[in-house]
Amino acid sequence: MKKYYIKTFGCQMNVYDSQRIASILEHLGLKAASSPRAADLIILNTCHIREKAAEKVFSDLGRLELLRQERLEKGLSTIIGVVGCVVQAEDEQIAKRAPYVDFALGPLAYHRLPEVLAKLGRTRGETIIDTEFPVESKFDFLPPNNTSSGCAFLAVQEGCNNFCTYCVVPYTRGIETSRPVEDVLCEARGLVARGAVELNLLGQNVNSYHGKDSSGKERSLAYLLNKLNEIDGLKRLRYTTSYPADMADELIACHKNISKLMPYLHLPVQSGSDKILKAMNRRHTAGQYLEIIAKLREANPLLGFSSDFIVGFPGETDADFEATLDLVKKVGFIQAFSFKYSRRPGTPAALMPGQIEEKVKKQRLDILQNLLFSGQLNFNKETVGKIVPVLFETGGRHAGQLTGRTPYMQNLHAELGREYLNKIVNVRVTGATVNSLTGQKEGK
Ligand code: 5AD
Ligand code: SF4
Repeated sequence: MKKYYIKTFGCQMNVYDSQRIASILEHLGLKAASSPRAADLIILNTCHIREKAAEKVFSDLGRLELLRQERLEKGLSTIIGVVGCVVQAEDEQIAKRAPYVDFALGPLAYHRLPEVLAKLGRTRGETIIDTEFPVESKFDFLPPNNTSSGCAFLAVQEGCNNFCTYCVVPYTRGIETSRPVEDVLCEARGLVARGAVELNLLGQNVNSYHGKDSSGKERSLAYLLNKLNEIDGLKRLRYTTSYPADMADELIACHKNISKLMPYLHLPVQSGSDKILKAMNRRHTAGQYLEIIAKLREANPLLGFSSDFIVGFPGETDADFEATLDLVKKVGFIQAFSFKYSRRPGTPAALMPGQIEEKVKKQRLDILQNLLFSGQLNFNKETVGKIVPVLFETGGRHAGQLTGRTPYMQNLHAELGREYLNKIVNVRVTGATVNSLTGQKEGK
């Protein structure tokens, strides 16, 4: 029996794509290997969002080539493939810098994997590269998503038309497309039947979802959430990532009306300066962002917010950066992801004047992260002593421990047996750090 190993970089969409790729491979009769060394087929699912992530792929490929040679000495052959956003953006670089790669497929083309593997079986030579944006939807060609997990991702939308000036996504994942309502519901029912109690709907711009229903009518994310809310056995719903300007009133109302929708929303703002937001081509000001947050809080006062931030965007002055700190203080995020601006070839911001020195970027990131982390720590500490429902997803750091998520996406570790995996358990929180909570199961 041939074995495969997939290493995933980047966002949750890549995690989801890797699961779909695993389903394809299992459908072809392959089994998961516990390490790359034990695998006949190794796939890197890559991320291009920042320079560091993209460069990591090339160093990993170098190591994999050595591994391939080691295996060859033992008479074992190895296929090495690359999928994901780096392929879409740097296919020529892959062919040049890592010519030993057998195949490279863009994020919209991985449904062609069976064909590619068959071709490789017949001839081995040049890297097979497919970075076309296919006219067909990969979802129509994939075998059913056979992921068994208590907490499952489900891609409902892909690509982005926003063209923020720093971002590669519109170029790597293409323009925005939405999956039809029935496809999503069918996959959701399947995931729930295989044990999912939580579904996290994914899309680069998920709140602009506009998939067609069976009559051909375009439906919103709010419609989809209401439909998913009806699935028996499903306990929790989330969606990510949302674009502030697309938070429709109907969707905001879901945070009041849909009981399964968790009280947590990832709503990236990127900057608190209107000048920088404009240069980023964001369709919102800091004031409008705050208004949206206020509306959401009105719909559900218990909502907790998380965000993404970029510091050191071209032209960012100390005053612009201060505006970001101000916005953070006003919102009080319970979690956040913050990055130094990374110059991405082919994006408009890469050519903008006023590029910021690395040293300044680092200083600003440190200041911002101190503020964000202290907010996050305070929020986590306020949870201590409370009883919270936790969905346990994985084994913990040591034996006898499980790790799960609270409704607010906090990681929680508890001493619990594996029979509680994929279950929602009431836990009394006993400790808190910036990144996680500890707790004990309530009752027997
Ligand atoms: N540099 C730094 N951060 C970036 N992001 C996207 N592009 C860049 C870039 N060029 C961040 C944004 C986005 C998150 C997924 O990654 O904050 O929301
Ligand atoms: Fe990138 Fe902006 Fe689209 Fe998000 S909304 S994927 S940051 S272009």
